[in-house]
Amino acid sequence: MKKLLSILLAVLMVFALVGCSNTTEPTEEGGETADTVKIGVCIYQFDDNFMTLFRNNIQAYFDDLNTKGGTQYEVTIVDGANDAATQTEQVNTFISQGVDALIVNLVQTSSDALAKAVEDSGIPCVFINREIADYQYSDKTCYVGADAKDSGTYQGQIIFNQPDHGDLNGDGKVSYIMIMGDPENSDAKNRTEYSIKYLEDNGVEVECLYQETGNWDQAKGQELVASALASLTDKIEVVFCNNDGMALGAFESIKNAGRTVGKDIYLVGVDALSECCEMVIDGTMTGTVLNDAIGQATACCDTVLKLLAGETIATKVNYVPYLMVTTENAAQILKDVYGK
Ligand code: GAL
Repeated sequence: MKKLLSILLAVLMVFALVGCSNTTEPTEEGGETADTVKIGVCIYQFDDNFMTLFRNNIQAYFDDLNTKGGTQYEVTIVDGANDAATQTEQVNTFISQGVDALIVNLVQTSSDALAKAVEDSGIPCVFINREIADYQYSDKTCYVGADAKDSGTYQGQIIFNQPDHGDLNGDGKVSYIMIMGDPENSDAKNRTEYSIKYLEDNGVEVECLYQETGNWDQAKGQELVASALASLTDKIEVVFCNNDGMALGAFESIKNAGRTVGKDIYLVGVDALSECCEMVIDGTMTGTVLNDAIGQATACCDTVLKLLAGETIATKVNYVPYLMVTTENAAQILKDVYGK
């Protein structure tokens, strides 16, 4: 009887193991076993300041869970190098390896082909940071990001809140230049539109002197602003940058041209990188907007866990709020977000 029972128990254990979709591996302590969940993370480009914060926070989230014992999360993060073909190959590799979940920051949002391939694989996936316009997410997919219109609105508000509403030379209009991210990106489009819309909606006359694409890149931002300053000289009153990376570059060119932020030119960005919070405090940047990398990474990973547990996500497009950053709160943001 005893023997029969132990055979029965062994058979049951085999069934339990086979029934579990995730692999079961020994823990570091040995003896005990824990599930291993494999997560593939595709980032559009490692060489991007904000997405570096985002991916580090994704890694930190799962590292933290792993220290708690129980299910272990094996996270593999790959660099799409801003190349759609490279990213398609990376996503397909993760799919063929049979990862348990995916997190995808698309290189290209003008096509939904890759998103469709993910849907067809049936693997739960959270798309992040780059929204595909009017996309219908399935049961196992959704989006986590931020509503870029708000970040543009805050940029406009920062300029409007200056004593001269941005009209430094008092000629009755705000003459600005716009340094954009990549043109197909909804963040770039919305920030470009809504920053100016806020000024116009508040009765400010505006004049666009120059609008160019800097692809979110610091060096490119520096180059574009240098050439705008060289040709337009002191006509420029406001430099709008779609992100802080390009604003950091813009600042170098502003300095090299002998201009002074807050005195004869205004400069705004988006992201609230720690360097930029410091610049807002010392007045070398007029303001920025917190793009909450921690909040978005947390919302993304929480959603991954829910999808893995088979839960239905009711809100398919999940926006984490932005926050306007000025001299009034920059020190607080630096402390709260970066612990500085
Ligand atoms: C934006 C961010 C930029 C850049 C871009 C990439 O939300 O502000 O700095 O990271 O995403 O898609």
